[in-house]
Amino acid sequence: MRGIVFDGKTTEFVDGLTVRAPGPRDVIVEIAAAGLCHSDISYMSGLYPVPSPGVCGHEGAGIVAEVGNAVTHVEVGDHVIIATLAACGFCDRCNDGKPTACRQTLGNWTQPFELDGQPIYNFAATSAMVERTVVRDIQCVKIPDDVPLTSAALVGCGVVTGMGSVFNRANVKRGQSAAVFGVGGVGLNVIQALKVQGASTIIAIDTEPKKEALARQFGATHFLDGTREDIVEAIVSLRPWNDEMLRGPFNGGGVNWAFDCVAHPVVTNNALESLDWEGTVVVIGVPSATAEFKGLYGRLVQVDRGIIGCRYGAISPHRDIPRIIDLYRRGEVLLDELVSQTFPIENWKDAVHGLESGMVARGVLTF
Ligand SMILES: NC(=O)c1ccc[n+]([C@@H]2O[C@H](COP(=O)([O-])OP(=O)(O)OC[C@H]3O[C@@H](n4cnc5c(N)ncnc54)[C@H](O)[C@@H]3O)[C@@H](O)[C@H]2O)c1
Ligand SMILES: [Zn+2]
Ligand SMILES: [Zn+2]
Repeated sequence: MRGIVFDGKTTEFVDGLTVRAPGPRDVIVEIAAAGLCHSDISYMSGLYPVPSPGVCGHEGAGIVAEVGNAVTHVEVGDHVIIATLAACGFCDRCNDGKPTACRQTLGNWTQPFELDGQPIYNFAATSAMVERTVVRDIQCVKIPDDVPLTSAALVGCGVVTGMGSVFNRANVKRGQSAAVFGVGGVGLNVIQALKVQGASTIIAIDTEPKKEALARQFGATHFLDGTREDIVEAIVSLRPWNDEMLRGPFNGGGVNWAFDCVAHPVVTNNALESLDWEGTVVVIGVPSATAEFKGLYGRLVQVDRGIIGCRYGAISPHRDIPRIIDLYRRGEVLLDELVSQTFPIENWKDAVHGLESGMVARGVLTF
């Protein structure tokens, strides 16, 4: 099989991969499309403390090719989105609808692939940049056949991460305001979920001016250039304390929510500084394991502000993915528009270039 392998130092397109046979609760998925998420680039840059060599990709959709003998909810030929959560399904977190906190979902690396006799790890329990992968049955969410698999692939990470952070982790109320730092595949989905929730002011911020048109298409009411020195003031001036004063006591004025889809210490602090009283920063971006940020303690207590993180949109895949597909079929959220360009898997480097140059919302690899 063809696929993309990161060996700990470099990433290569290879031919000759094999995948193990499915166990009783496993599913072999023939991948139709794999999105290139920024986390793939971080993985290929050695930013994550995970073992290698491994098959890349974690944002995929495809068609069920084989099922283990205990699998009951999907069958051969079904179209599926792969969720990266290989959750146990039995613990209290799973049963509380919070499988992102299921202890089985991090660190359970396996080596289901082989290349020239050498065992190869999977990535994020998924490995979508390969012709066929093996995943747990609970990871396969069945979707209608008429949803294009290139669009469906993006639901596997960028879409659920962005939309879920708004629907599940934040508690955005109709009429509230939000700033979204980083208009990539994740940030665009934060923006469109904010629109669904009825946020009145959605301020998109990106260092790449080409992202303005996309941000507005997905629902941003304002766009600001993230390279501005006075970015905090620019955000707050759209939601000032009152008609006379930009800022009130204890740094009042600003937005109710700030979503950090970049993960740079300066961005996280700017997000905190942009908050009105009772505002919350939701950190979604993933920096290196040792990155730190600094902020003023005083902002938190005065008055009731917070900083929270969000893994994978805090989703429960079998609840949230069908809801998102339903919103898409009713025209309330955009998925096809996230696919800026498709690339044959061999040309994966062009997709990396597209993401790094800010040319694409998402580049999608096809087989
Ligand atoms: N929490 C999770 O579960 C989860 C899941 C998926 C992705 N992520 C992380 O989310 C982040 C975003 O992922 P993505 O796929 O959307 O990336 P992306 O590369 O598509 O988008 C990032 C955007 O941020 C912009 N940007 C860079 N520096 C900026 C700055 N200083 N101010 C404003 N904008 C800036 C870039 O121009 C780009 O448009 C990454 O760190 C990724 O690893 C987290
Ligand atoms: Zn569990
Ligand atoms: Zn991702």
